[in-house]
Amino acid sequence: MSSLLTLPSTFSRLNLVPKSLITIPFAFKSLNLLKSHKQQQARSLNSPRLSSLNSFTTHFSTSRSSVSPKPFHDDLVVLGIETSCDDTAAAIVRGNGEILSQVVSSQADLLARYGGVAPKMAEEAHSQVIDQVVQEALDKSGLTGRDLSAVAVTIGPGLSLCLRVGVQKARRVAGSFNLPIISVHHMEAHALVARLIEKELQFPFMALLISGGHNLLVLAHDLGQYTQLGTTIDDAIGEAFDKTAKWLGLDMRKSGGPAVEQIAQEGDAESVRFSIPMKQHKDCNFSYAGLKTQVRLAIASRNIEAKVPISCASSQDRSSRADIAASFQRVAVLHLEERCERAIEWALKIEPSIKHLVVSGGVASNQYVRARLDQVVKKYSLQLVCPPPKLCTDNGVMIAWTGIENFRVGRYDPPPPANDPEDFMYDLRPRWPLGEEYAEGRSEARSLRRARVHPSLTSLVQASLQQQ
Ligand code: KG4
Ligand code: ZN
Repeated sequence: MSSLLTLPSTFSRLNLVPKSLITIPFAFKSLNLLKSHKQQQARSLNSPRLSSLNSFTTHFSTSRSSVSPKPFHDDLVVLGIETSCDDTAAAIVRGNGEILSQVVSSQADLLARYGGVAPKMAEEAHSQVIDQVVQEALDKSGLTGRDLSAVAVTIGPGLSLCLRVGVQKARRVAGSFNLPIISVHHMEAHALVARLIEKELQFPFMALLISGGHNLLVLAHDLGQYTQLGTTIDDAIGEAFDKTAKWLGLDMRKSGGPAVEQIAQEGDAESVRFSIPMKQHKDCNFSYAGLKTQVRLAIASRNIEAKVPISCASSQDRSSRADIAASFQRVAVLHLEERCERAIEWALKIEPSIKHLVVSGGVASNQYVRARLDQVVKKYSLQLVCPPPKLCTDNGVMIAWTGIENFRVGRYDPPPPANDPEDFMYDLRPRWPLGEEYAEGRSEARSLRRARVHPSLTSLVQASLQQQ
């Protein structure tokens, strides 16, 4: 753990100084700062907008005792900004979970054209719409920047070029209205948005986070504290859905997943015998690269032409595409089911009190996924919590809500300057694990290590707790 202490903190405002000068992360001061946070809360009870933030020296504490359901928290109004991948999203959420507005500008047409996310083009698309998206979120809520309490923004994981657009915008808004800023972990946000929907959902709980770039099984012990039970050793399930859709010539305008789900309803899921990935690995990790290859070969052997859109296919061609889609979906989800069962067994050993499995991320909008996983959790007398589809795919609500959860415990940075200097180094975390790997579940597939670029959110939070 000690080596972590020389690394920038999770919610650091050290990005205000050149990286070479960084030595002691500010997050590792704390107890008296927690006191000052509480004093500030008391001062602010009637004023959710924090106008006197300048009196703060720092804004990070990790004590749960600072969490209390005070009206102060209910009256918070947080703007959330999300640009980590291909959707530009903003939303305004109140501390009590009320969604005042949400706006998503999708790049699905670019995705359809290029069959994947091209970072430079995605960055341009974000830059073109970000001001409009944020303004629309404000307009729809009937508020102005002056009514906000804080701005939350995704700083990772994701594409650097894209993250930068959101962070720049968030800092501009926060700087203009003298608002604190909250750095959000995209995958934590996918998990925590379930707590906005299901008020009974307390820590600890389990989460399966399935999206275009991630396949994560985690045990959520507390805010910012996760044990990673499993992750993907190559592709995520959403990527496999997207490629299957592309190769089957489906309409990708709403992204590949929904297109596969739809056509799969017409197909026979037993007709193509794909093998379930990683059967021989008795862990909770995932792999979808091999299944993708199996799908590609099945498509080639049936002479299906992706160039011929499904809308123009003969009825026989259409039914053979539907069979492949259904068979793919069945096996892709069987892989999830197997891993979830094992993960639940592991998790119940670590935290016997868990009652919920949260399933979130874009792929969690799939009804077949939900139905199958519902069967799995029932075996263990757990409850499945799936946010509504709009909150499963990337959105600003989950960022604003995670901002609120962090803000409540004092994890935020003070208002940035109205204008950042030109050479300003943004604290972006393109590769940022959520939790620490479960030691007893270490995978033999060591390629996972390559992804570890930034210390995990959990290790940073734990390091700061040890300093208190
Ligand atoms: O969470 P998300 O919006 O963005 C990322 O963080 O990646 O997830 C997007 C992924 C895409 O791969 C998309 O095809 C998939 O979620 N997806 C679905 C469905 N809706 C979205 N996959 C399967 N079935 C769906 N209904
Ligand atoms: Zn996502």
